[in-house]
Amino acid sequence: MLRIVVCVSGGGTNLQAILDSIDNGTITNAEIAAVISNNANAYALERAREHGIPGICISPKQFENRDNFNTAFLDKVNSYQPDLIVLAGFLVVIPGMMIQEYRNRIINIHPSLIPSFCGKGYYGLKVHEGALNRGVKVTGATVHFVDEGTDTGPIILQHPVMVESEDTPETLQRRVMEQAEWKILPQAIDMIANGRIKVTDGKVVIAG
Ligand code: GAR
Repeated sequence: MLRIVVCVSGGGTNLQAILDSIDNGTITNAEIAAVISNNANAYALERAREHGIPGICISPKQFENRDNFNTAFLDKVNSYQPDLIVLAGFLVVIPGMMIQEYRNRIINIHPSLIPSFCGKGYYGLKVHEGALNRGVKVTGATVHFVDEGTDTGPIILQHPVMVESEDTPETLQRRVMEQAEWKILPQAIDMIANGRIKVTDGKVVIAG
């Protein structure tokens, strides 16, 4: 059974998609050990607690400096002994020591087709504003492993979504979630839980 810690900052619709997928058997061989947020008011924490899963807040604001936060954050995650850390809309930079300790065991959902509209400054609605400003006709979402760069790790799954002429950043965000994020994030977790994902030469190879 794959033990997962999910890190969230906001509403937690991706967390909900994972919870639903475990409940309905779309994800097998996996359980969520804890949900961690930097934001005590994140609705995602409510979703966790409603499921009987610990919902914990740990924020850089509670610490004197970033190093102290990083150490406490890593200790907190380690206390749940996860096999996989899932970043589902988590807006805190992951400490380098955590990336080293959990090499190819941290995944992130990003709301564009990487390498477009990703990297520093591209998160949440800003990604969709970027796509609309550039006038792309297709966007989507990407699940990838986390490495030392921003959105640069090995790509696991991607799914395209058509941009419509009437789209606002909000409507596009919603469609990317519904058509792509809520599907490929649970799918990637199921593949990892069932041993179908390997990283070779910095690229993901899918078995079966
Ligand atoms: C999602 O769209 C996710 O892809 C994005 O934040 C949103 C969180 O929504 N993540 C990033 O932009 C990371 N760079 P949620 O809290 O409802 O799952």
